[in-house]
Amino acid sequence: MQKYKFRIKRFNPEKDPNPRWEDFSLEMEPSERLLDGLIKIKESMDGSLTFRKSCAHGICGSCAMKIDGKNALACQTLIKDVNHTVTIEPIPSLPVIKDLVVDMDPFFGKNEKVLPYLINNEPPPERERLQSSEDQEKILQAITCIMCGCCTSSCPVYWADKEYLGPSALLKAARFIFDTRDRALAERLNSITNDHGLWRCHSIYNCVEVCPKEIDITGYISKLKRLSVKKKLG
Ligand code: SF4
Ligand code: SF4
Ligand code: FES
Repeated sequence: MQKYKFRIKRFNPEKDPNPRWEDFSLEMEPSERLLDGLIKIKESMDGSLTFRKSCAHGICGSCAMKIDGKNALACQTLIKDVNHTVTIEPIPSLPVIKDLVVDMDPFFGKNEKVLPYLINNEPPPERERLQSSEDQEKILQAITCIMCGCCTSSCPVYWADKEYLGPSALLKAARFIFDTRDRALAERLNSITNDHGLWRCHSIYNCVEVCPKEIDITGYISKLKRLSVKKKLG
């Protein structure tokens, strides 16, 4: 067991005029996860500490937070990899509801703008629309996105322009644009090539650095840019 200090940014809109830092000392095994520490604090020190979690296995995307200055999943972060005084804050650029819980509506709203569903009006085959493994390879990384928000919340362009679609929504657009079963290319390109879309991305790679699924988001965005230019040039 080793001693750790969890320095957590707290904010209760019903009581606090501003966010404040609060420290909690606890003993943990190096193999435990940051999420285990937060659960210990909530269960035995301060039941009012508020954070999201569900699967605890890097699948649901709900436990995204800023850990030692970098967005990450609390359930995927081992205690041995954080500072002995670990700072924990809500992910930036989204409104804080309480403590580590942010309002994800602005984030999910961006995804809705890029039509996040397959569009194909051709009569469906008897069983299902099949895809070859080569075709699936084109979207394989993109379909592993768990919608945690780490990327968009780390994007400097999004910090400056809240209308910007952001990396997650652009990745979602790529997921369907490069899906060989989809038939709505023109509509989709139209949805991402406005003043707050594709061309706002400056390829800074912040999004890739924090993605817990190690998706090459910027690579997909670059492919979208090339496709968009190709279509424009006819
Ligand atoms: S690569 Fe583009 S989307 Fe990703 S963080 Fe940078 S500007 Fe944002
Ligand atoms: S692309 Fe990665 S960081 Fe962004 S929402 Fe999906 S899983 Fe999270
Ligand atoms: S609790 Fe589901 S991803 Fe962390």
